[in-house]
Amino acid sequence: MESQDLKQAFVTVFGSQADATFFSPGRINLIGEHTDYNGGHVFPAAITLGTYGAARKRDDKTLRFYSANFDDLGIIDVSLDHLTFDPADAWANYPKGVIKFLQEAGHTIDTGFDLYVNGNIPNGAGLSSSASLELLTGIVLEELFNLKLDRLDLVKIGKQTENDFIGVNSGIMDQFAIGMGADKQAIYLDTNTLDYELVPLDLGDHVIVIMNTNKRRELADSKYNERRAECEKAVEELNEGLSINTLGELDADTFDQYAYLIKDEKRLKRARHAVLENQRTLRAKEALVSGDLETFGRLLNASHVSLEHDYEVTGLELDTLAHLAWEQEGVLGARMTGAGFGGCGIAIVAKDKVNTFKETVGKIYREVVGYDPDFYIAEIAGGTHVLERK
Ligand code: GLA
Repeated sequence: MESQDLKQAFVTVFGSQADATFFSPGRINLIGEHTDYNGGHVFPAAITLGTYGAARKRDDKTLRFYSANFDDLGIIDVSLDHLTFDPADAWANYPKGVIKFLQEAGHTIDTGFDLYVNGNIPNGAGLSSSASLELLTGIVLEELFNLKLDRLDLVKIGKQTENDFIGVNSGIMDQFAIGMGADKQAIYLDTNTLDYELVPLDLGDHVIVIMNTNKRRELADSKYNERRAECEKAVEELNEGLSINTLGELDADTFDQYAYLIKDEKRLKRARHAVLENQRTLRAKEALVSGDLETFGRLLNASHVSLEHDYEVTGLELDTLAHLAWEQEGVLGARMTGAGFGGCGIAIVAKDKVNTFKETVGKIYREVVGYDPDFYIAEIAGGTHVLERK
């Protein structure tokens, strides 16, 4: 979306000029799934699909929110003095949470503002539209109120909003990828120390195809918290013989030696995924850096297998896409990406095979699942930023 169109849309909705326009990306995750809240590594990248915004500071205490993606909701009005979660405020709870926690962190936000947003991340696709919106709100506030914010603090405020305002016990991957993204680079992040490295995403003659199941992740949040709790319980059990804070601290061999302490098969599988997925992520990053794309692709496949059988967060739609992708010519690897339970997968596909890939996978998917998937080529983008100032 062009800044010009955003400014025009802002005028149409709010009847005055915006102070500035903004963009905040979505993200894909190459590998390292459900490892971030287990103290492991992740390997995400920000993408050009994302959330656009335009905003104007007000003189009173009113906050007005409008989303072109939920235009049936119209303008959502909130008072700056009532920043508590309210289901009636729908998507506006995300910006409300960000404002509240920035205030609590000592930043002065003493008047309201009008915010127009328009996103092109497909709804419920697991490409982090919520983290995109959280970070967007963060830089809107940074800009309008002249806040001196460290980007990492904003990333943490985004996560805090998700955890303590919305109630999803997520890790830091999405907000980090979106806040710290860089053009054509993936982010190799240790979620335990928050040390990170930008890695050029050089796939030679291949592109990343995002495969949208078009199944919305309705149950995701409750199952998500359940998985997290299962992993925490497994850590407790392992600590009968070990002394660890997270599963990310374990290598495969140590896990193997102490796995007998986990008393339940389900928890054993969850923990095994968290440990081995972290190891796979280390190896996948090395493979990518050394240009060994075949190994990189196979590790993506292995990640899916583990998420399907051990972590059990895939389902018919994601499995159908990944399994079909594995069979296609020119595919180096494919897996689900994000939380799972629907949403999107990714496949690394030779450029000259992309059309055949979409046709074949699309056709069989429709036969199996009953409706069409969507495909987009992922372009790796920079992090949340101001587009234009007045
Ligand atoms: C969601 C969460 C992330 C991460 C992924 C799974 O996207 O927001 O923190 O846990 O799921 O890897």
